[in-house]
Parts: sequence; C-alpha cells; structure tokens
Amino acid sequence: MKIITVKDNIEGGKVAFDLIKEEMAKGNVTTLGLATGSTPETLYQEMTASDLDFSQMNSVNLDEYVGLEKSNDQSYDYFMKKHLFEKKPFKHNYLPDGMATDGVAECQRYDEIIAANPIDIQILGIGENAHIGFNEPGSSFEGMTSEVQLTESTIEANSRNFTKKEDVPTRAYSMGIKSIMQAKQIILLAYGPKKAQAIYNTVKGEMTEDVPASALQNHPNVTIIVDEAAASLLN
Ligand code: GLP
Repeated sequence: MKIITVKDNIEGGKVAFDLIKEEMAKGNVTTLGLATGSTPETLYQEMTASDLDFSQMNSVNLDEYVGLEKSNDQSYDYFMKKHLFEKKPFKHNYLPDGMATDGVAECQRYDEIIAANPIDIQILGIGENAHIGFNEPGSSFEGMTSEVQLTESTIEANSRNFTKKEDVPTRAYSMGIKSIMQAKQIILLAYGPKKAQAIYNTVKGEMTEDVPASALQNHPNVTIIVDEAAASLLN
C-alpha cells in the first residue's frame, strides 16, 4: 500500500485526480469505480473543473440505499448526478437501483454489470468502522453484491445528511469486497480524526473481516491518500 499524506481534502482531491489523469493519458481507464460520501467531493470538483472528457468512459458506483427513489436528494444516484455526472457526462453510469422490488435479482444484475465492465480504478472512502462501500465489519472478503443491513454506527454517521436519524435507510445494496479487490487500481481517500483508527487498522492492523478495508493489504496496487489527522495513528 502506498500512503500519501496531504494537507487537506483539497490537496487530496488534486492528488487523486492526478493519478486518474495519468492513467487516462496512458489509455488505461475504460471504467471508473466511484464512491459517494463527503470524502470524494473534492476529487469530483477537480474532475468537473478539468478539461478531461469522460464521454467514452463508464462508471460503476459502489452502493445505493434501499428504498430511496433516484429523485430523493439523499440517494447516491442523486449525489452522483449533482457532484459529477450532470457536469461531466460519461458513456454510461451504473448504480444499484434502490427501488428494485426483487433484491436478489438486483444484486445479480449488478454483478453482471461489474463483470461486463471490469473496473480500472476504484475510488473508495472509508467508514469510521473501516467499511468500504457498505461492506460492514464481518462482511466476507469473498462477497459479491448483496443487500446489507447497515450498522448503528454507520446509520449514526450518515444521519448528519438527513433531517432526522429515523429517515436514514437501514439497508443498502453494496458491491462486494471481492469485486472491489478485482479493480486493477484502488485509491482510498480519508480525511479527519474520525478516520484515524480505521486507517490505522486498515494499514497496520491484522487482515480480518472485522476490518473490511484491511482486505486491501492483499491488493497489488492501492494508494491511500490521507490528511495528517487521518494519518495520525500511523507513526
Ligand atoms: C457511506 C458510503 C461509503 C463512504 C462512507 C464515508 O457509508 N457507503 O462509501 O466511504 O459513507 O462517508 P464520508 O466520506 O462522508 O465520511
């Protein structure tokens, strides 16, 4: 794992953007794996402000809340359109469908999409409990797309974006850790003191399903971009 420490999320967004740009210049990016949450916002700002053309590229997102319409401003579909896709059109943007009536069929459909669109670079944020996508502690490293029950700590953390905690969906569709690990390159971003323990456990801790992001220790091409606060327990 390569660790890059940056001053703040602005610089982190620039560093991540440069890594993507470099691979795009080599013709290496057909499919970009994307993430939601506040962490990748500065990367998406760099992408939208750039003169890069994404219209021949596909994107595959990590996850979506179950039960939210695309038009709901808390859905990840809405988030991606607002922060990136409306400003930078892609060839095709794939996300799980939070309103799918058959959850099993939806997970299968999404796995087929991932298989048909091998991810060249996967962007990741990280939860305070080291979840990636919505793969909560205890998720299998061999897991494919599944419908997951969110933990209390994730619901609590994500409630800051909702009017009240009761509005936070308790379930989500998430790409599995196995699919994340199949991405050719992974860029994980983490900022702020609340991510310090998760980053420590991911980088220096034991590789265990209790720490979903620790699976990345086995990936050959991972860059972790952290600010000083998120990196504070590493040295
Ligand atoms: C959600 C998303 C994750 C994201 C995490 C952290 O749970 N499913 O992909 O990494 O939130 O969010 P933030 O970047 O806002 O801290």
